[in-house]
Amino acid sequence: MLKHIVRSVIVFIVLGSIGCKEKSTEKAMDKKNEVVYYTEEYRPQFHFSPKEKWMNDPNGLVYHGGKYHLFYQHYPEDIVWGPMHWGHAVSEDMIHWQHKPIALYPDRHGYIFSGSAVVDTENTSGFGTAENPAMVAVFTYHDDTLLKKGENNFQTQGIAYSLDNGDSWTVYEGNPVVGNTGIKDFRDPKVFWNDIKNNWTMLLVAGDHLQIWESDDLKKWEKVSEFGRDKGAHGGVWECPDLFKLKVEGHDEEKWVLLISINPGAPNGGSGTQYFIGEFDGDTFTTDQEETKWIDLGRDNYAGVTYNNVPNQDRIFIGWMSNWDYAADTPTKVWRSAMTLPRKLSLHRNNGQLELYNYPLENFDKIVGKSYEQPLISLKKNELKQLDLQFGNRSEIKFNMGAHNANWVFSNEQGDSLKVSVDIKNKKVLLDRSKSGLTDFSPKFSDGLQEMNIPNLKDGNIEVRMILDHSSLELFFNKGQYVMTNQIFPTSAYTKLTIENLSDGVLEIKSFTEGEVERIWD
Ligand code: FRU
Repeated sequence: MLKHIVRSVIVFIVLGSIGCKEKSTEKAMDKKNEVVYYTEEYRPQFHFSPKEKWMNDPNGLVYHGGKYHLFYQHYPEDIVWGPMHWGHAVSEDMIHWQHKPIALYPDRHGYIFSGSAVVDTENTSGFGTAENPAMVAVFTYHDDTLLKKGENNFQTQGIAYSLDNGDSWTVYEGNPVVGNTGIKDFRDPKVFWNDIKNNWTMLLVAGDHLQIWESDDLKKWEKVSEFGRDKGAHGGVWECPDLFKLKVEGHDEEKWVLLISINPGAPNGGSGTQYFIGEFDGDTFTTDQEETKWIDLGRDNYAGVTYNNVPNQDRIFIGWMSNWDYAADTPTKVWRSAMTLPRKLSLHRNNGQLELYNYPLENFDKIVGKSYEQPLISLKKNELKQLDLQFGNRSEIKFNMGAHNANWVFSNEQGDSLKVSVDIKNKKVLLDRSKSGLTDFSPKFSDGLQEMNIPNLKDGNIEVRMILDHSSLELFFNKGQYVMTNQIFPTSAYTKLTIENLSDGVLEIKSFTEGEVERIWD
């Protein structure tokens, strides 16, 4: 009898779950008229990824017409890098994205490399009107024919404008607006309105340094200063600059922050983004910062820049969740790579040192449901606690941990494991993804441990937030003080998180929660 009841219950549960599955597939079919929509293996469920084919850097991040625009480096013919276009998507909440037609195509001046977009409110360019200001995209032209001929002047800067909120674009007939006098790597214009001089500023990278240019009308540009030949990391070419002012939290003080991506030369290998904190007088950026600082010590946050024109002045950052070391080899077939979650940047003074934090926008909380909570887990030295993960690779895990050395290991039944080790004594976090799932697509994906310094932890307590999507883990310490972003390709969803105390004394894990994150693509 009991057996019979148990069997009925199992049949009921199984049928029930099949029913659920069918329903969600139907939903995906109804809307998009496709059987498979964002359900392929490793497809991020709540991060932006292109519908298909290759994507790299975020471009033209600007808020206009009630929408956050996300343009991106895109090759629509293949899942590897090729002649670059600007793909386009929009969002009202920075969570749900709507795909738009390709915005910019290669033309006689070259491929369309990275750049930015502004709203020309004063109609300085004459492209729009006061009532309908133009959205102006500023980008690098990369002339591959010149490159192949062995010339050095193959990168120039061009502009294009849109009068219908980014749906269609007119390329400026006077392009290029900034020519090239023989600088091999001369690219990635970031343009913003300069309140100090009442004109436009353009940041450009020129191999090993930053150049600052200015203009009254977005068409005629003049160089005003340079920065960085002798500052920061120089293990690779400087790319994707950004510069903005931030208030130091809790103080009246304001500082300017310069972002510079470099490839290779990141501390954990390949591509990474460094930052400088200093002053900008309208013409020149200066800093007395001696040490090199990095926005994210994981291996997969590159070419990140921030939004122009955001209504509440928040500084919102999006990075490309990959690394040139293996970007073309990751095991996906329909599309390649995703963006980080949109993150808010803020400046904090800790132990006298300024640190740049990056942390998911509050809006993200709206798509996280609560599941279970464990108020307190106490672990003696070498004791382990294995927690069941209910939402596998679509979850947000949070907890507070006392200042102890500890390991956290994500694992599944296939034997995959991803290990994070916190070494409080040496003020370091180590991350090992060498057994995290598929790794053999590139030897560079898992060579060596990733290391992150955590010099300024407060109160000996660590607040942890880990956001796990199908092919990424974003790890935030103390609300974005220290961050590691990594791609992962587990052979099935992780089902366990094991926490081990490696120090003397009792380790207390407080307020452990796992929340299910909603899929954004239905
Ligand atoms: C950074 C970058 C940029 C360039 C673009 C080309 O990842 O190399 O410097 O404009 O990608 O796709």
